[in-house]
Amino acid sequence: MSRTESFLRAPGTQLRIWAHRGNSSAAPENTAASDEAARRAGAEWIENDVRTTKDGVPVVMHDETVDRTTDGTGPIQSLTAAEVAELDAGSWFAPAFAGQRVRTLGAQLDGLKTRGGNLLLEIKGEHARSSVVRIVQEIQVHRMNGRVFVQSFEPQHLRWVRELAPELPLGLLRFALDPDPVAIAIAKDLELTSYNPSDAALQTRPGIIPELHAAGVAVNVWTVDDPNRWDALERAGVDGVITNCPAELAGWNAGRFALAG
Ligand code: G3P
Ligand code: CA
Repeated sequence: MSRTESFLRAPGTQLRIWAHRGNSSAAPENTAASDEAARRAGAEWIENDVRTTKDGVPVVMHDETVDRTTDGTGPIQSLTAAEVAELDAGSWFAPAFAGQRVRTLGAQLDGLKTRGGNLLLEIKGEHARSSVVRIVQEIQVHRMNGRVFVQSFEPQHLRWVRELAPELPLGLLRFALDPDPVAIAIAKDLELTSYNPSDAALQTRPGIIPELHAAGVAVNVWTVDDPNRWDALERAGVDGVITNCPAELAGWNAGRFALAG
């Protein structure tokens, strides 16, 4: 897999499943448990978020603070990697997951290497260039360039990744559509593989799907858990869906295309 690989979906084929924060409806988000649940649900792609600790270590965490998803408190940027490693990231979800940890990106990549799957890595929140350098280094040191797709809401993060590791495919996340998504997508400093709008944003202008496809750019939509929307998005031609319910989407895909066949 590389930047030049197409992520466009051929007509009559299944929606690509991107498991949002792992299988986060079944297990605590962004943990090894949620990644394993996603893998076993049949998702080839696991979406995880990366932030950086006080001492510059990339860790897998969605929120700016550790309060909601661990037994600790405070901004992730105020904690060292050693402090973060002590936190329980599973009990908030259910007692069965007590002892799940906030992983370093390095540990997460090791897990993918040994257990399988690909990573849709969201560079989450604010990052200095040095922090993006460190994230890219982790991917390179683990020799996982061929199995990682990077996305961000921040075009500057993607520009830095493009500069540092031009082989990595890039996706731009959007809450609202740009006036001209194609112009953004094909800009030489980005050359996006995918444009990733929210479902609400896409519904304001579904015509961007064929426009982006004509430019060779895939459209992956977040975060959609409703089978009625999966149906509408499949018919509209989107390439993939970022979902909290990858097992259900895998089942829906199987049923939808069994009937079609
Ligand atoms: O992958 C899309 C989605 O992850 C963006 O929103 O807040 O869940 O990271 P968020
Ligand atoms: Ca995310």
